[in-house]
Amino acid sequence: MAENNQNAVAGNVAAKPKPAAPGAAKPGAAPGAAKPGAAPAAVSDGGVYKPPVDRPDSNPYKASRISLVNTWFQERFYVLLPVIDYLKKKEVPQHRHSVWYYFGGLTLFFFVLQVLTGLLLMQYYKPTEAEAFASFVFIQQKVPFGWLIRQVHAWSANAMVLMAFIHMFSTFFTKAYRKPRELMWVTGFALFVLTLGFGFTGYLLPWNELAFFATQVGTEVPKAVPGGAFIVNILRGGEEVSGETLTRMFSLHVVLLPALLTILIAAHLFLVQVLGSSAPIGYKETGRIKGYEKFFPTFLAKDAVGWLIGFAILIYLSIISPWEIGIKADPLTPAPLGIKPEWYFWGQFLLLKDFSFPGGELAAIALFTTAAIIWVLVPFLDSKASREEKSPNFTMFGLFLLIAFLVYTFRVFLLYR
Ligand code: HEM
Repeated sequence: MAENNQNAVAGNVAAKPKPAAPGAAKPGAAPGAAKPGAAPAAVSDGGVYKPPVDRPDSNPYKASRISLVNTWFQERFYVLLPVIDYLKKKEVPQHRHSVWYYFGGLTLFFFVLQVLTGLLLMQYYKPTEAEAFASFVFIQQKVPFGWLIRQVHAWSANAMVLMAFIHMFSTFFTKAYRKPRELMWVTGFALFVLTLGFGFTGYLLPWNELAFFATQVGTEVPKAVPGGAFIVNILRGGEEVSGETLTRMFSLHVVLLPALLTILIAAHLFLVQVLGSSAPIGYKETGRIKGYEKFFPTFLAKDAVGWLIGFAILIYLSIISPWEIGIKADPLTPAPLGIKPEWYFWGQFLLLKDFSFPGGELAAIALFTTAAIIWVLVPFLDSKASREEKSPNFTMFGLFLLIAFLVYTFRVFLLYR
């Protein structure tokens, strides 16, 4: 059981003194005495005994009226009140690594921003080969505040990936994945993959030259795997990147991925609520937990400060460093030099280039897939952490992956400036 949720569970039992339901017998009342509002007690009908029809009111919270609005909701949704009571008891441990607890919420915040700005962009965007680029120019130049919405969407996409990345590695290094939070890790990993999917599918939508050729390179990758040509065909909607690809990427970007991500976020957050936040191994035993902070309202208020700062940074970046629209994609022109994907794919991109000998691409894909499989299975493999013991081998594995990613990313930065 999650340590900091113990009183939450206890709270379930001793939540609120339940007000007596109207019609329930008052202590000390004579058995069988008539109660106001209750059905008549046992009625004798020609000597035949009939049991009293005395149903207690099913809403035990009816008496706890605070305001009219509250009463209105309580009368209709009273079944949820124990859940809300439970949520109010969630606590976050305070220690020297508490700062990492903010990154999941930040990822969520940027996702919400993506949904809001994405919905606004969709009012003007046209997902066809002929109109996509022009509709982007229109949004950027003619629609009131269209430029800002587009810039915030583009910057927030990058912020979401970065926050998810930091969140994933911080939960890795604090071993927050250990028993009983294995499924938090697995759902989190699936969320990370979907987040990258958002980036990949969204990149093509402006239909500019850079996006077009980067998508050509990206969708080519599965070809190295046996049977991969089939996957490439599915992704592109044909042999080559074309208007068909744009339709596919658009539908993935605005329908399938948001639906999947929403379901998975719900599952992830449900687990977070039920199991509570973990503390690093040994912190509890060695007294390094300074205390516990109520999630609602204290931690949430601090979360909100982080979101406001994040939002302010996005607006600042949108103004001082706007994303270019580029030039319209022309499938008939040769690919310009220096085509590269979004920064979060640079690692894989360069790995494939480093392995560009015969059979090398397949080896690179195998290497990458193996690392990803080990990564997602870490909570099940790291048995020491499950026993609340330190597991330096896994820490080294995480460090190795992180350093490799950073080195590869930086190399692309230097090579493709
Ligand atoms: C869209 C992406 C994601 C969202 C919106 C999200 C959201 C959250 C939130 C709000 C929390 C609670 C606060 C916190 O500890 O930060 C949390 C906890 C957690 N997340 Fe995520 N997350 C995402 C991706 C991931 C990824 C990629 C992983 C790892 C592969 C992950 C693993 C975890 C774990 C293990 C916890 C528990 C932390 C603890 O108990 O200390 N999440 N997530």
